[in-house]
Amino acid sequence: MNQNILVTGGAGFIGSNFIRFIQNHQPHVHITNLDLLTYAGHLENLKDLPLPDQHEFAQGDICDQDLVESLLREKEIDTIVHFAAESHVDRSILGPAAFVQTNIVGTFSLLEATRKVWLQENQQNEEQVRFHHISTDEVYGALGPGDPAFEETTPYSPNSPYAASKASSDHLVRSYGHSFGLPISISNCSNNYGPYQFPEKLIPLMITNALNGKPLPIYGDGQQIRDWLYVEEHCEAIWKIIKEGKVGENYHIGGGNQPANIDIVRTICTLLDEADLPSPVLPHSKLIEYVQDRPGHDWRYAMNIKKIQDELGWSPKHTLENGLRKTIEWYLKNSSWLKAIQKRQDYQNWIDDNYQKRGKA
Ligand code: NAD
Ligand code: DAU
Repeated sequence: MNQNILVTGGAGFIGSNFIRFIQNHQPHVHITNLDLLTYAGHLENLKDLPLPDQHEFAQGDICDQDLVESLLREKEIDTIVHFAAESHVDRSILGPAAFVQTNIVGTFSLLEATRKVWLQENQQNEEQVRFHHISTDEVYGALGPGDPAFEETTPYSPNSPYAASKASSDHLVRSYGHSFGLPISISNCSNNYGPYQFPEKLIPLMITNALNGKPLPIYGDGQQIRDWLYVEEHCEAIWKIIKEGKVGENYHIGGGNQPANIDIVRTICTLLDEADLPSPVLPHSKLIEYVQDRPGHDWRYAMNIKKIQDELGWSPKHTLENGLRKTIEWYLKNSSWLKAIQKRQDYQNWIDDNYQKRGKA
């Protein structure tokens, strides 16, 4: 097992980091990367892979069951790591349909393909194959100020179309384990940050806007709390679950870093100030602007990660400041990656759609 991996969504943020992680730590693994290359997927994210011969790219849709079946057969896939998704909450509020299609129908289609090829044709068992599904803390809804962190047994209560579509996909994956004996596992992770994150999410958006002298839009009062994890550590945890986690189980992954949004943005501004850059507006915090809140904005997420710590010995190691320094360094070194995205009309359209109609908070 774990020789021929199908990574879905491997041209996106976490998927491309995962491929790099595998190549750095498991050089024997052959990776087939199925990605539709939506606005969020870029082949640039995969340039300079350490082992290019061990990576094969297939452009296609996870909803295309025939394509997935043929990849499973031809590449003798024994492990699926399913990242492909529509992943941005704000986009799910402005246009939920794509979330239902990719996250729910796409996951269903992948499950059907594996049921047919792995279970019916090949009669493979949990010693031979694994379907690992990547999910999120957002399926649990929002925490209030004194609430304990989410546990693996916390009931689902998703609040955005994105979270609802991920919750639905988690349920489907679980049901294929239960009803058909498909060897599955699920991980629910908190907010990731690091290299190659598309600059519509909080941290890369703030870095890129600050460098360009553009406003830093804080939704509502900026007091919402997320639990931030450096992306490479997410990849490490996923691999541990695939190798050592129990089939049929779900595991929480989290960073143990829980600042309010406004504090994280202020920290980014301070780190950029220290870098002594020729930015158009200094100090960078002058650009902070409170804007109309995200509808239904979840106030706080926090993950209880005792299970993965106790069972698999995994814990996050980066402090937020340490991870942010590395992330900022990466964006400064890779300004051409950032500029190529900023130039794109679809990126500009998204920024206009999401921010122009938002009033001040
Ligand atoms: P992303 O938006 O950066 O990348 C998604 C990738 O999926 C892109 O490469 C895109 O082209 C591809 N894709 C989209 N629709 C597809 C389809 N129909 N067929 C094939 N490929 C398709 O997302 P990300 O931030 O890297 O998130 C990856 C996964 O991790 C998602 O499942 C997300 O729900 C989950 N997750 C993300 C975070 C986070 O903080 N980013 C945290 C927890 C869980
Ligand atoms: O919690 C895990 C989730 O984290 C993942 O499942 C999602 O795929 C991922 O996108 C992320 O969702 P968030 O909604 O938390 O991430 P985002 O970067 O969009 O926003 C982080 C916080 O910052 C959130 O409270 C909203 C706020 N925000 C975001 C943007 C883009 C702002 O205040 N201003 C902004 O411009």
